[in-house]
Amino acid sequence: MPTKERMLITGGNPLMGQVHVSGGKNTAVAVIPATLLCNEPCTIENLPDISDVYALVDILRSLGAKVDYVPNAFMTVDPRPAEGWQVGYQDSQRLRASYYLLGALLGRRSEAEVYLPGGCAIGARPIDQHLKGFAALGAEVEQLGGRITAKAENLVGSDVFFDVVTVGGTINVMLAAVKALGNTTIYNAAKEPHIVDLANFLNSMGAKIKGAGTDVIRIRGQQYLHGTTYAVIPDQIETGTLMIAAAATHGDVVINGCIPTHMDALSAKLLEMGVRVTDSDDAIRVRSVGVQHRAVNIKTQVYPGFPTDLQQPMSALLTTAKGTSVIQETIYENRLKHLVEISRMGAQVRFMDRTAVIDGVTELYGGPITATDLRAGAALVVAGLMAKGVTEIYEPHYIDRGYENIEQKLQSLGAVITREKGE
Ligand code: EPU
Repeated sequence: MPTKERMLITGGNPLMGQVHVSGGKNTAVAVIPATLLCNEPCTIENLPDISDVYALVDILRSLGAKVDYVPNAFMTVDPRPAEGWQVGYQDSQRLRASYYLLGALLGRRSEAEVYLPGGCAIGARPIDQHLKGFAALGAEVEQLGGRITAKAENLVGSDVFFDVVTVGGTINVMLAAVKALGNTTIYNAAKEPHIVDLANFLNSMGAKIKGAGTDVIRIRGQQYLHGTTYAVIPDQIETGTLMIAAAATHGDVVINGCIPTHMDALSAKLLEMGVRVTDSDDAIRVRSVGVQHRAVNIKTQVYPGFPTDLQQPMSALLTTAKGTSVIQETIYENRLKHLVEISRMGAQVRFMDRTAVIDGVTELYGGPITATDLRAGAALVVAGLMAKGVTEIYEPHYIDRGYENIEQKLQSLGAVITREKGE
């Protein structure tokens, strides 16, 4: 029988030393499509070397853009030859953020066609608010058989009120509005750091965006955007995952190249558990040697609340904390599946709708488990690092969507982690 690819972790080694965080995935997947809005070539630095980035390079090339990508150095995009406006089903399925091509192409040439995106299965992920935003700017939007087409004679700035706070919707409307005629105001906007980063990137091309990072974003449309060179911010979810892994193994790790203020919600929870967290300008040190972790409750919220993307690795850590932790997942309806897998390793978890109640156990035991999405995969890595014996994680390709060189980074801190390629 052919073997499947798996990650192998021998748990129980405290992580020790220093590690550098990569550029932000959720920034990268917005900034790369945004290059299509530029009227000249532009260069992005600090991109993470992850599969979502490669998927976007292929998509930009298929649209006709000239892309020069040197991983871990730069990506230069010359969007001028890009005549395409349609992204096919298979390309759309390669990543969740393919829907940003809708906003970017609409902004570039007032027409776009993209299929409903792929990405991680963590519950219903409607995009009605994105489409409502495009319609408010004057686009005719049609959805048929999973294909979304948006077209306008001219995009015209307008007021957009979101019914729910949506990261993707906020980014998509910003992309569409940046070159629209007149002014756009987005109310009830999301405030995540990557929204601010996208606004900074667009402003560095000459866009006029104010208020990113607050819940009202004002955009004055510009006809011409000039070339730029821009470095994306560090990945706060990778930073947080490394912080949690350091705590989970009772280690002592300095995470360099991060933005500590982006991590405040997680740092506060780790401190509440008894972990020592100290910040400097662009580094965080997490120390948990000899600490008995206390249980804490987590309720996921939009930024600056506790991020849903860190709920999964954090709840893995809490499976061995002393006492009972209650995890409330308010953003996605199906983002607790990793705890079912970790229960196979000995965790004690009860589920009630979108809430998990974790009774901390003293030990987890390694065995075969399966990643079901990106952050679930990260949670299983945390569980494997804590567990006795060998943990085998199947479907590790999910983890590659968002974590650059995760094995090498953890190995450099003393983890015993390898990958066996499937046949
Ligand atoms: N929602 C709607 N209608 C919409 C859009 C969203 O009802 O039109 C709902 C969603 O169903 C969800 C909530 O609003 O319940 C929040 O969704 P949001 O649009 O904010 O999420 P997203 O843009 O699809 C991004 C990240 C996610 C991250 C969330 C929340 C990217 C590419 N994805 O998703 O990242 O979990 O924001 O912070 O930026 C990940 O990195 O693993 C990941 C899933």
